[in-house]
Amino acid sequence: MKKKFLVIGNPIDHSLSPKLHNYWIKKYKIDAVYEKKLLNNNEIEDLIFNIREEKIHGLNVTVPFKKMVIPFLDDLSEEAKISQSVNTIYKDDNKIIGDNTDIEGFKLGLEETGLEIKNKKALILGAGGVVSSIIFALKKMQTEKIYVSNRTELKATELKKNFPEIEIIKWGETLDFDIIINATSVGLKEEDEININYQQVSKDKFFYDVIYNPPETNFLKSAKKYGGITTNGKMMFIYQAQKAFFIWHKVVPEVDKETINLFDV
Ligand code: ATR
Repeated sequence: MKKKFLVIGNPIDHSLSPKLHNYWIKKYKIDAVYEKKLLNNNEIEDLIFNIREEKIHGLNVTVPFKKMVIPFLDDLSEEAKISQSVNTIYKDDNKIIGDNTDIEGFKLGLEETGLEIKNKKALILGAGGVVSSIIFALKKMQTEKIYVSNRTELKATELKKNFPEIEIIKWGETLDFDIIINATSVGLKEEDEININYQQVSKDKFFYDVIYNPPETNFLKSAKKYGGITTNGKMMFIYQAQKAFFIWHKVVPEVDKETINLFDV
């Protein structure tokens, strides 16, 4: 029987997960299909029930549902528990499990850049669904200090409950960072700008944008102009998908040039 997988979110149009998963499904001759579904909050419960009934075999979860799905699940992986964020759902031994592959995806993507993160100062912009995963990954990578800045400060304060070691910076203020990470949704639209003082940028400053579509946000464009090092969220996206693919199909899909080139738009 053909197995069915979905990525759920709202909005969901921009998601490139179907493209990647269906490419691997075909490559490894797996009898499955992966689609995207625009979801409303009141539809989560029904959808999870479909997994119980094995009408759907797995879910990827994106904005704004990564935390919202948790009450409907039977169990969480260690990483999903700590980050309170779920991006991959599957059924195992009659239990619906929530896992988090964003953490490993972010870590692998960052490691691949070859830039030293250990003992560095990181400033994260945003406090939405993916930020707890980024903090968790940075901690694993032994970042010296993590600062978080969010337009709605209360949300950053909430994060501090889980991660007391973070320091909160007022929105619009920057400080002397080694790596700055845009984890807001600002940049999804080409014209979006983030207000940062780019004058202090030098070629040893590292700018990371979680956004991968468009491939170069204004945040990265400006950083590059002033001589900073830049990377977008493409590899994080590919690696989180690789981990999810393994969870569902027990195959580690290869991340080769052809895979990466799928996203060179
Ligand atoms: P959610 O907040 O529902 O988890 P998200 O897409 O994961 O959704 O997070 C969006 C992030 O982008 C948030 O940090 C949000 O800031 P607020 O908490 O203040 O909403 C941030 N964001 C979105 N639009 C923004 C804007 N125009 N300026 C600054 N930050 C913005």
